[in-house]
Amino acid sequence: MKFFLDTASISQISFWKKYGLVNGVTTNPTLLSKEGNDAIKVIKEICKIVQGDVSAQVTEKDSKNMIEQAKFLKSIHKNIVIKLPCTLSGIEAAQILGKKNYKINITLGFDPSQLSVFKNINITYFSFIIGRVEDFGDNNVEKIPAVKEMIKKLNNKIQFLAASIRNERQLIAAAINGADVITVPPKTWEKVYNNKYTLDGEKSFMDSWNELPIEKRKKYEIKK
Ligand code: G3P
Repeated sequence: MKFFLDTASISQISFWKKYGLVNGVTTNPTLLSKEGNDAIKVIKEICKIVQGDVSAQVTEKDSKNMIEQAKFLKSIHKNIVIKLPCTLSGIEAAQILGKKNYKINITLGFDPSQLSVFKNINITYFSFIIGRVEDFGDNNVEKIPAVKEMIKKLNNKIQFLAASIRNERQLIAAAINGADVITVPPKTWEKVYNNKYTLDGEKSFMDSWNELPIEKRKKYEIKK
């Protein structure tokens, strides 16, 4: 299983890379827009610092234009994966680009049934959006096993990419139900590694340690 970082922020990529959590990156127009810089420059910079797939999403709505834009995006770097929406236009573009051996990430997948059409289309990733649905009070976590099953039955070559991960519960559900890749926003990693009980536990250990007189703990501690 791989972890991608769901961001277009160079500083966040550099930070989480140190922990081995950046096997690839997924961007989208919202994430690129948040950076406020030339989007192509940002994508190029990401490709420079990441050894792995970098998803760049089309911003065109019509399949012909999506294909045209995909050609250009692919020319930026060998690791670029074209992100196409799971709309009829996106599917048409995937049909053509799949035959030309483009790496494709189908995004905005909200239901396992949407995988049906990819029985005969050559795509690399199917992004199943988990957290965004919960933002609206619905639940996509229980559909995760069905995504895996549909992929097994229809086209085993597709990698299940779990996306839009807001919390620990969604991350665990994706991992134990066979996601091949989990793309995690930096904010979620911050939450995971600032676990309240871990931090409280560390503080309580230190409080009790400091109750021991200094001469009785000094040989145990490092010299500063
Ligand atoms: O790669 C996933 C992304 O396109 C959607 O994530 O956080 O906007 O729901 P989010």
